[in-house]
Formats: sequence, C-alpha cells, structure tokens
Amino acid sequence: MTNENTTDTHRHDRGATHDFDGRTVLVTGGTSGMGLATARLLLDRGASVVITGRDDARLRRAEDELDAGERLFAVRADSARPADLARLAAAVGERYGRLDGVFANAGVGVFETPAEVTEESFDRTVDVNFKGVFFTVQHALPLLEKSTGGASIVLNASWTLHRGLPNAPVYAATKAAVHNLARTLGSAFAGRGIRVNSVSPGYIVTGMFHEVITETAQQDAVRAGVPLGRLGEAADVAETVAFLLSPRASYITGQDLVVDGGVVAVANGW
Ligand SMILES: NC(=O)c1ccc[n+]([C@@H]2O[C@H](COP(=O)([O-])OP(=O)(O)OC[C@H]3O[C@@H](n4cnc5c(N)ncnc54)[C@H](OP(=O)(O)O)[C@@H]3O)[C@@H](O)[C@H]2O)c1
Repeated sequence: MTNENTTDTHRHDRGATHDFDGRTVLVTGGTSGMGLATARLLLDRGASVVITGRDDARLRRAEDELDAGERLFAVRADSARPADLARLAAAVGERYGRLDGVFANAGVGVFETPAEVTEESFDRTVDVNFKGVFFTVQHALPLLEKSTGGASIVLNASWTLHRGLPNAPVYAATKAAVHNLARTLGSAFAGRGIRVNSVSPGYIVTGMFHEVITETAQQDAVRAGVPLGRLGEAADVAETVAFLLSPRASYITGQDLVVDGGVVAVANGW
C-alpha cells in the first residue's frame, strides 16, 4: 500500500526539527539559491542564522522572505575581501559570542574556455570561490572554538571538481581546491572538535544555473543527462548541508558529499 506521507516524511524528517535549537550558523551568500534555502531550513530547525551578501537591497529582501526576527542577522560582507570577513566575524562575535556551524557557500560561476579566461576573470573566480572560502573559515575559527558539543563547517564545492570541464577550467579548479581545504582543515581542526566537509551540488536550479545555462534547449539536454531524471533544487542541497552541520554527521570529516542526481557516478557514453 502506498504511504501518502512518504514524500513529506522524506523531505521533512520530523526528528530533525530540533537539530539546531540554540545553535548559531553562518551562511555566506545567503541572499539566494542554496544559501537562502539552507538558511530557511536551519531557521525552521531552530537555529539562529547569519547570512551575508554583497548588496544591501538583496539582503533586505532575503530578510523579508525569511521573516525570522531576532534569530536572523544579515550582514553585508564581500567574501572576496578578507577585511569584510574579519568585520563579519567581529559582528557575529559581538551578537552571539560563538558559532556552531559555517556554510561557506558564496561563489561565482564563471564559465569560460581556457582561451577566454582573462587575468581579471581568473582573479575574480579565485578571489570569491577559493580565497573567500579560506578566509571565511580562518576568521570564523575563534568563534567555532567556543562552540560546545562540536562545531561543523561545510564548504560549497561542485560536481565539476570530479570531472574535467572544458568550459570552466578555473571554476572547476577552485572547487577542487575547496574540497582539498575540507580535507586539510578537517584534519587540522579534528583535535578541536570541529568537523570540515564539502558538498558538491550537481545541476541545481538557481540564479547561477540560469546565468550559465541560458537556453531552454540546453536545460533540457542537461536534464536528460541526469540519471535521476530531474534537475536539482536548492532544497536538495540544503537538506544535505543541514545533515553535515548537525550532530547526525558527528563521525564524518574531510569528505565530499555529491548531491547531483547521479551525474558524477555514471560514465558518459558507452
Ligand atoms: N547552481 C548550481 O548548479 C551549482 C552547482 C555546483 C555548485 N554551485 C555552487 O553553489 C554556490 C551557491 O550558488 P547558487 O547556485 O545558489 O547561486 P546564486 O543563487 O547565484 O547564489 C550565489 C550567492 O553567493 C553570493 N555571493 C556571490 N559573490 C559573493 C561575494 N563576493 N561575497 C558574498 N556573497 C557573494 C550571492 O549574494 P549577492 O549576489 O547578494 O552578493 C548569492 O547569495 C556557489 O558557490 C556555486 O559555485 C552551484
């Protein structure tokens, strides 16, 4: 007999509802896409959440959408600027005194062939996707060390770190670097009770997806290549990030968890 609640139970594990009660999590790039979806899920599960972005109007819109009162703190901080990240950590420290989790999610998707890459686009991609992730963690570390009961960091990488991608050499390399950081920092921080993992989303329908894959025909072709037969939603990634941030993942560190409907697992062609 079909259980009519199967889908609902699958998506909203009721036992998980209180996983984040009393915990504070920083989500960089929380104004849209996976960052916003993760902020929403963590708030639903009891967390206080700090979101960042570069633009005041987008931050205000996210605040309105999340509508979480005092449990939400929106801070303008450009992840490409370590000084902004230091200011962010100071503001979080002043308001909450500690952090229990970080989702270093802010990133830019610059898709160019090797010949098209310029020094400017190279620097922009590396500055946000790699340098930004590193300094987010470095500045958050003293606050994470104050967490009781184990802190967790999740870095947003990408399925592209597992594949050669002719039209995104620099982007894919920054994501490989991000996963390597998860391994290295995972071992560096293990003795302090801080876990570090990365998540590798596949094709997830967000603003970035629409920026990169603009034509409907391209989107159909991409969907056809996903073994599970659908494009991903930001909520698919949010669920995975929440798991890695929660005590349910307390024995997992230094890993990459791929959330891609099977893209990376399956060989292309015969
Ligand atoms: N969509 C996909 O298919 C896919 C697949 C694999 C990995 N990813 C990764 O997922 C992450 C999130 O992307 P998304 O798909 O959710 O796209 P999105 O909706 O465009 O979100 C990107 C977020 O990053 C923020 N951001 C960008 N540059 C920033 C900076 N310099 N400082 C602070 N915040 C910045 C944006 O905020 P503001 O614009 O408001 O500043 C926005 O909140 C990225 O790291 C991306 O590489 C995406």
